[in-house]
Amino acid sequence: MEAHQAVLSPGGSDAETIATLGWVMFAGGSAIFLGVIGLAVYAHLGGETLRRRLASRRLVFVGGVLFPAVTLTALLTYGLILTGARLAAPEADALRIEVTGEQWWWRVRYPATGDAPEIVTANEIRIPIGRQVEIRLASVDVIHSFWVPSLAGKVDMIPGTVNRIRLHATRTGTYRGQCAEYCGAAHALMAFYVVALEPAQFEDWLAGQRQPAAGPLTALQKQGEGLFLSTGCNGCHAIRGTPAAGTIGPDLTHVGGRLSIAAATLPNAAASFARWIRDNQHIKPNNRMPAFRILPDDQLAALAAYLESLK
Ligand code: CUA
Repeated sequence: MEAHQAVLSPGGSDAETIATLGWVMFAGGSAIFLGVIGLAVYAHLGGETLRRRLASRRLVFVGGVLFPAVTLTALLTYGLILTGARLAAPEADALRIEVTGEQWWWRVRYPATGDAPEIVTANEIRIPIGRQVEIRLASVDVIHSFWVPSLAGKVDMIPGTVNRIRLHATRTGTYRGQCAEYCGAAHALMAFYVVALEPAQFEDWLAGQRQPAAGPLTALQKQGEGLFLSTGCNGCHAIRGTPAAGTIGPDLTHVGGRLSIAAATLPNAAASFARWIRDNQHIKPNNRMPAFRILPDDQLAALAAYLESLK
């Protein structure tokens, strides 16, 4: 899977603005740097008269005070104008999503609209292109920071308050996001994906997510479902359509349909589920899920097969 995570490869209008600002700053900085180096070489090679002229009070005032004051004011004004649009009120048809940072994953909620019920998922945000998306950012433990470099700048998630970020994807694709504020030992393993889809595809996906989990089909999957409900998984995880309604950990209703598991730490595959259940404290030390080392391999395989089937 190709996922972009690059400030200089924008897939959304905010990231485009930031990239433009970055390039203008880089070009301006380079021009000034070359000018200063040029003057230094010129002074080094020139005679005594030239050096005296370059050292005049007037030139020092113009080059050392006036020039920076004018240039920096102009760049600041340009930057404020360029990014000021972000302060406007959200568009009326903006899609609203809530994302909560938790050590070390992302709880994602699509609030209920009209008759459509709320959807809770994790570590993956799907959005339509060409439509403004307003994300409310919160945290339940420490400060995290929401950053999808290819789509927008970063905004902190602070306990006790709600911050907002807007995304406006302009081209379809998979964009990687990363927690950008140190939040504990596994901070580096707190990533996620934003998948930008054509609006019709997005609506299809949303309709699918609203459905409860599909029941198990094979004997192995059925055994897995039984184990999920009997070994304690349901104490922390919810799977809509089953009695599992835990809210401590990620909602797993459609976990098999996500791109990754454990906040973009492992690829989505049955082997990853088995590994995560048994070795999660090795993969992501101190995460809140206990390692289920007591399960024999055949039971692990059944649980993994069941979870992977939850598309
Ligand atoms: Cu969450 Cu760093």
